[in-house]
Amino acid sequence: MDLEKLLTGRLAPAFETVAGVPVDPVVRRSQRADFQSDAALALARRLGRPPRSIAAEVLDRARLGDLCAAEVSGPGFINLTVADPALGGLLSALAADPRLGVPPAAEPETVVVDYSGPNVAKEMHVGHLRSTVIGDAAARLLEWLGHQVVRANHLGDWGTPFGMLIEHLVDLGEAEAAQELSMGDLDAFYKAARAKFDADEAFQERSRRRVVALQGGDEATLRLWRLLVEQSERYFLTVYDLLDVTLTERDFQGESSYNGLLAPVVDDLDRLGLLRQSNGAACVFPPGSVGRDGEPLPLIVRKSDGGYGYPATDLAAVRHRTGSLGATRLLYVVGLPQRRHFEMVYAAAAQAGWLIPPARAEHVGFGSILGPDGRMLRSRAGESVKLVALLEESVARATALARERNPELGEAEAAEVGRAVGIGAVKYADLSSDRQKDYVLDWERMLSLDGNTAPYLQYAYSRIRSIFRRAGVAARPDAAISLAEPAERALAMELLGFAGVIAEVERSLEFHHLASYLHRLAVAFSAFYERCPVLRSDGPVRESRLVLCDLTARVLRQGLHLLGIRTPERL
Ligand code: ARG
Repeated sequence: MDLEKLLTGRLAPAFETVAGVPVDPVVRRSQRADFQSDAALALARRLGRPPRSIAAEVLDRARLGDLCAAEVSGPGFINLTVADPALGGLLSALAADPRLGVPPAAEPETVVVDYSGPNVAKEMHVGHLRSTVIGDAAARLLEWLGHQVVRANHLGDWGTPFGMLIEHLVDLGEAEAAQELSMGDLDAFYKAARAKFDADEAFQERSRRRVVALQGGDEATLRLWRLLVEQSERYFLTVYDLLDVTLTERDFQGESSYNGLLAPVVDDLDRLGLLRQSNGAACVFPPGSVGRDGEPLPLIVRKSDGGYGYPATDLAAVRHRTGSLGATRLLYVVGLPQRRHFEMVYAAAAQAGWLIPPARAEHVGFGSILGPDGRMLRSRAGESVKLVALLEESVARATALARERNPELGEAEAAEVGRAVGIGAVKYADLSSDRQKDYVLDWERMLSLDGNTAPYLQYAYSRIRSIFRRAGVAARPDAAISLAEPAERALAMELLGFAGVIAEVERSLEFHHLASYLHRLAVAFSAFYERCPVLRSDGPVRESRLVLCDLTARVLRQGLHLLGIRTPERL
């Protein structure tokens, strides 16, 4: 169903015959024809023949049948123009396919998506937004393709700060503390604890003893710790709900859940001869990780005080995920500053035999969200921006815009549209930017009805739905497709590109490719709708155009759904 693949399949055997070895025909969309293959140019030197003659011989041998017309052009390109009846047939098949041409994975695997990972008793900030939004899109997409997806919310729920947090909780009283935490005032709680810790020596001492009690498994301390964790989890779930993210309470897999595995992990590293002492700490020196002067870098798995930290936990997590869960693809949706950490963890895990092919791990890294001044986004008080505050602002702005545009909208409907558009705009702004780069948060742009934005796509969707509503008709998926107008043809080509884009994003997890695709599709639809009357035409033309409309709506809806963005029927 994927046109590029189909054409590749027709050209590849011919190229192989001509070259004597398998050759990728490199079929790409082109300005001059529908598609172009430039593999003959690359082959010319190897075969010692002019590229045009190679291209001509390939075309002689290729069985293109009724699929497309082909010609040699320029220095040796092969131009391919898909025949209209073939295009129509492909679209009919697409219309009849509930999966819109996207095949389920040929080899489904168990994939762990490690994402969100906020820290207990700390506010989620905009950095967690990126992890949550990108990770959720990955989980949705891979699941739709038929993979077994394990969502792992690697909550920061362990470590020395819990000493002071628990003591602060004791000082406040449990009821009061729970109240404060459930209100989502996590930062205030954390800061108050921190301030006392810095100012009050007695409090410091109590906190230290509390850490020891916590690590020693003291029941009373564990109960207080659980209280903190539960209140924070409850709060994070409200954020996920607001954000339309698929994470649930079952997906919390905090650092503490690996506590029992840490000693065995370190013992095994020792037995494998991978441990070295460095300044009293037990370290692994993974191959390939060196500092500025070429000195090997340590991954500290047991600190000099005997405690385990972040790296040991991540090693235990890798082992658990490949060993116990049987996962073969491990994704870590975490900011780019942690790249080195993960490189070292993967290398050490590979050495220990916990991450061996076909199992592999990928750091799905991302850059920062910047403010209008091009610097890290900060609130007016100069602090990092609370995620919830950002989302609420977006919803408020989108609701106001919806009312302005459509004064007849009822209160409830305006709120619903505002929510779908406001949240969608924030998520789309993130997913439509290259994740490896920083991007600037720009309210005007992301809420605009024009351009590569969520509102533009949501609007395109609702406009198509209104065509059907107005006419009280439905598309007949078995209607014959005719593509006489260039704008119809252009739209058809975009619709057939969905499967190819999904396949590419499954591999790269670069969702901006899916976003740009949906935008191109919506633009092609808008050109089609301007030039080709739908309801004002009749007979087979009208039937055919209704199918094109319906297919566009279905692809937009599915694509946005994979990005975690709602598609209201009316805007
Ligand atoms: N809690 C960490 C943070 O806020 C993110 C956890 C990422 N996942 C992992 N397996 N280390 O930076």
